[in-house]
Amino acid sequence: MSTTPSKVDMLAIHGGKPVREKFLPYGRQSLEDEDINAVVEVLRSDWLTTGPKVDEFEERFADCVAAKHAISFSSGTAALHGAAFAAGLKSGDEAITTPMTFCATANCIVYQGATPVFADVCPDTLNIDPKLVAKKISGRSRAIIAVDYAGHPAELEALRSLADRHRLILIEDACHALGAEYRGRRIGGIADMTLFSFHPVKHLTTGEGGMVTSDDSRIAETLRRFRNHGISSEARQRQESGQWFYEMVLLGFNFRLTDIACGLGISQLSRLEMNLARRREIAARYSRAFRQLPGVEIPSVREDADPAWHLYPIRLRLEMLSAGRGEIFRALRAENLGVNVHYIPVHLHPYYRERFGTAAGQHPIAEDAYERLISLPMFHAMSERDIEDVIAAVSKVCEAYSLEI
Ligand SMILES: Cc1ncc(COP(=O)(O)O)c(C=O)c1O
Repeated sequence: MSTTPSKVDMLAIHGGKPVREKFLPYGRQSLEDEDINAVVEVLRSDWLTTGPKVDEFEERFADCVAAKHAISFSSGTAALHGAAFAAGLKSGDEAITTPMTFCATANCIVYQGATPVFADVCPDTLNIDPKLVAKKISGRSRAIIAVDYAGHPAELEALRSLADRHRLILIEDACHALGAEYRGRRIGGIADMTLFSFHPVKHLTTGEGGMVTSDDSRIAETLRRFRNHGISSEARQRQESGQWFYEMVLLGFNFRLTDIACGLGISQLSRLEMNLARRREIAARYSRAFRQLPGVEIPSVREDADPAWHLYPIRLRLEMLSAGRGEIFRALRAENLGVNVHYIPVHLHPYYRERFGTAAGQHPIAEDAYERLISLPMFHAMSERDIEDVIAAVSKVCEAYSLEI
């Protein structure tokens, strides 16, 4: 009997037939006719920006995450910038954050002239470790910026008590975690400020867009001014009250989200619960399929968390595989899976190394995870066939490289 694998079993990277004919991205938006109609309705209205759809989207969003205030921004990055400003970060201050994130999380500290201080992550969730945060607190610390990595809530209670004890502002970057729950409570009103992104790969999209939620009225007021040049009133308020006078009270930016985008956001928000349920179902299917797969570690979920599953990152057990992450990544791409890697730890980026002297070896848990991470396709519009293809391709590739078989 020949031991040569058939064309079907042979990996696509070695000339076999790929599991999928068409490329499956790791994330993408889903738009329905109702979304398009909602945008057209705004285009036909009197207000393209700073109009009634902005208020409506903010009110509905605040309700959805059970927060008192929601302030929209032109992107998640602008929302982070607003949060760093409202936290009062300035030159000479430090803010403690995680290396296992998109660079925008740490960049907002630098925008304010403050210094980012990284604390390593917990090995299971890859969220910032409160015990390591405690060790990084100094007389210059002003804020903690946690990230709900992949949609799994950070350890908010421990971070909250650290922040209270040291009079720090707690900011939660929940760009991955819209709809996630921590100890039975939805993410959005637990930290002093929680922020979200509406980029197309997220749970709901406005093209580009972001939101900060907070229960603190003073913070909300500062955020509203910051996103509007630091001006104390908005054009529509002035038009409605027949006033022309305004004052610029702080140095802000134009980080406003348009009514066009908010119209889309309102329409998308109406399907959030359904989309969340779908992401949770996909994650459960993957976890069942990959739990026993040689060489694969599935994402952990803590008992007190119900993640929102923005990403489904597996970690390779490289000691059980005959190839490194690079080759396995390429083999999955050859099967037409749009796998990705989240994230290159922020402290390893050249900008941070050069400006802040960060270096490899400083955050070993994040660095070890980075060498082994692969994000699988995860978006709510995935079809049954898409899910089956991901399971088939990951199983095919990992079994082919397994040292056990
Ligand atoms: C954790 C995290 N924070 C911030 C951002 C920035 O959001 P945006 O792309 O909306 O500016 C992202 C974007 O993917 C993110 O993943």
